[in-house]
Amino acid sequence: MKSKVQPLVDGFGRKIDYVRLSVTDRCNLRCRYCMAEDMVFLPRRDLLTLEELADLSRHLVRRGVRRIRVTGGEPLVRRGILDLFRNLGALIGHGLDEVTLTTNGTELPKLAGDLAAAGVARVNVSLDTLDAARFAQITRRGELDTVLRGIAAAAAAGLKVKLNMVAMKGVNDHEFAEMAAWCAARGHDLSIIETMPLGEVEGERSDTYLPVAAARDALEARFDLVPSTHRTGGPSRYFELGQTGSRVGFISPLSNNFCAACNRIRIAATGTVYGCLGHDQKVELRDVMREGGEDALNAALDRLLAGKPERHEFDIARAEPAVARHMSVTGG
Ligand code: 5AD
Ligand code: SF4
Repeated sequence: MKSKVQPLVDGFGRKIDYVRLSVTDRCNLRCRYCMAEDMVFLPRRDLLTLEELADLSRHLVRRGVRRIRVTGGEPLVRRGILDLFRNLGALIGHGLDEVTLTTNGTELPKLAGDLAAAGVARVNVSLDTLDAARFAQITRRGELDTVLRGIAAAAAAGLKVKLNMVAMKGVNDHEFAEMAAWCAARGHDLSIIETMPLGEVEGERSDTYLPVAAARDALEARFDLVPSTHRTGGPSRYFELGQTGSRVGFISPLSNNFCAACNRIRIAATGTVYGCLGHDQKVELRDVMREGGEDALNAALDRLLAGKPERHEFDIARAEPAVARHMSVTGG
């Protein structure tokens, strides 16, 4: 007998309707807070196929997931990825409300039009600086101009763009107001994010850690920040820039714990599903999907939800990262 379709609810009664789906741990950049210079990536044979990613997504939508954000690594470097976006796009209006994408923007000059056509409505582009030399320094190999062209291509294709800026003391902490003004002039939203202790990188993250409150102070010197009720289903707290009407969000996992309203799970490209960005609690879905069928998949998801941690315990002062895996593994 087929089990009844149950919504995804965790042990604390939180309804899970948002999934972050990592499609690769690889990236064409090496941002210093994210990756070490010589990262060892997963063997490709360990990844879910694009068909499996689509099947899993359909299953999750049947269980009440309304939003899927495709992440990585850099999702757009995975070969054939547009097929997945087309399959996800086909679910919109059939349980799924939206498909979004987190990207470093480098492939957007090529792919923005196809993504929009597939049904993607919004993209988050990671961009920490508007200075070309600093961009090259932070990403170790990126060219700012490519990303700027990618952002322009996304906007031209009708995609709503939000920028993600990781706040780094002594690196980009004099650029908050400039970035906000740049975004406002183009109608883009901006999220300013604190560094999270995920995976080993060269150097100490605590050296550049900056609470987002410092970024808020910098913006307040130039703009009126009006608290906004805007929510995107995530932990961002938004403000409107009085002079411009555009929005700036602050994500502060370290200084302001937002776990009580958690609505999400994160699926790594291997099919490992994590209950929390900051814990190792996980369930493996790949073999279950390959061997066990629908009921086994439901049971595995339910096991994950039963053990989903109540909250992360990030502490930037601790010598060790909170978890050994990088953001690029879990899905940023
Ligand atoms: N802490 C904070 N943000 C990070 N990102 C990647 N690694 C980290 C980290 N350790 C950011 C990227 C991207 C988003 C998905 O996460 O810049 O914008
Ligand atoms: Fe790549 Fe994003 Fe990590 Fe930078 S932050 S290395 S762009 S995955």
